[in-house]
Amino acid sequence: MGVLAENLAILGLQWGDEGKGKLVDLLSGRFRNVVRFQGGNNAGHTVVVDGVSIALHQVPSGALHEGCFLGVGSGVVLNLEVFLQELDRLAKRGFDLSGRLLISDKAHIILPHHIALDKWREGGLNKIGTTGRGIGPAYEMKAARMGVRMGDLLHPDTLRERISHGHAEVAQLLGPGAGLASVEDTARDLLAIAQPLLPLIGDIQDHLWSAWRRGESILFEGAQATLLDIDHGTYPYVTSSNCSIGGLFTGTGLPPKALSHVLGVAKAYTTRVGAGPMPSELLDATGDRIRDLGREFGTTTGRPRRCGWFDAVITGHACRVNGVDGLGLMKLDVLDGFDQVGLVVGYRDGEGRVGTRIPSCIQDWNDLKPEIKYFKGWSTPTRGIQDPARLPAEARAYLDALTESVDTPIAYLSTGPDRVEGYVEPGSFLANLL
Ligand code: IMP
Repeated sequence: MGVLAENLAILGLQWGDEGKGKLVDLLSGRFRNVVRFQGGNNAGHTVVVDGVSIALHQVPSGALHEGCFLGVGSGVVLNLEVFLQELDRLAKRGFDLSGRLLISDKAHIILPHHIALDKWREGGLNKIGTTGRGIGPAYEMKAARMGVRMGDLLHPDTLRERISHGHAEVAQLLGPGAGLASVEDTARDLLAIAQPLLPLIGDIQDHLWSAWRRGESILFEGAQATLLDIDHGTYPYVTSSNCSIGGLFTGTGLPPKALSHVLGVAKAYTTRVGAGPMPSELLDATGDRIRDLGREFGTTTGRPRRCGWFDAVITGHACRVNGVDGLGLMKLDVLDGFDQVGLVVGYRDGEGRVGTRIPSCIQDWNDLKPEIKYFKGWSTPTRGIQDPARLPAEARAYLDALTESVDTPIAYLSTGPDRVEGYVEPGSFLANLL
């Protein structure tokens, strides 16, 4: 199989943790470039190499494919210590990224006082259940024009000053008891940590533009997901970046024309970590069963995930926002053996009206109850199925209803964690691409 000359985005359609990593792992070997364009070490997925798990939070997943060039775009926020630890873990497993990794000089750096601010807020009344990694404050400082970018590391004389503005505001807010490191210490530590990364800093926009013009393929690896998008998600219970399609363009500097296809990833049910609306949530034994069978505990924080049936309202919204060509539908096998399987097809409001749009305002989510359609479960397991013809009729009926409710066809169906468990849907855009 050759390298692809078309560009593909892989984006999450729910509240994250959909299994984007498996698809990126599966497909990245077919692309010359793999790029992260938003988020930071709030994201996380585990790749398995020779039976050993490696957790990646910030390094693009193409790391495991030697011919892959890796890019970190301007929309990403980076914790440099975590980034270096990941590079180190990869190097120990024999994956040397030198010469094939470029970090945008415009990407922002997560500083210790950003982490302190994140944790301080999470201790207060406005807690939204963040990952506590300083992601929100790093993006806040970016918007407030007090951020520190990777390119600033190349100008050590002015680094202290760049750090000082944001540091002063956080110090004032948190007070002297917060134990923040001084600006001097922060600048010194940052420069010391960053040394190995300095040669990797450059103009990723220029690199990607040239690659695209040369006809090289690019895989855009999304982190988090549309319902966590700062604009199109369940605000304020969201992350601080644009995890949907728009973030791809701002986070790389490439024009929309550079993108050929969008693969939207969703689980065959719904999960969410942290606070915020989730009408599909099952607070009963069924929810517990999905959590146990699906091993729904966070890769980044270990928190148990809230679980519910597939929600066609949120996922349909995400399909429309992103212009999804086909679904990567993950973890169907987790629903094996249930007597019945639910599908949230609408939301019923306090006055009994059923709608299929998500509210923009958080206040309007409160009264919504899920309108659930039930399907007969399947007794023949779907686990490991690699051929659509082998799907039990009941599972097929459920999938047909699911795709109709989000008005988007399946491009890839995952039937287990292993890379061989699942199949590319014949006739889908992905089958034509591969
Ligand atoms: P933050 O991104 O750490 O600010 O957290 C904001 C919200 O996004 C919280 O509800 C987090 O649990 C959620 N979140 C952030 N990253 C991820 C992810 O990769 N998967 C799932 N949820 C996430």
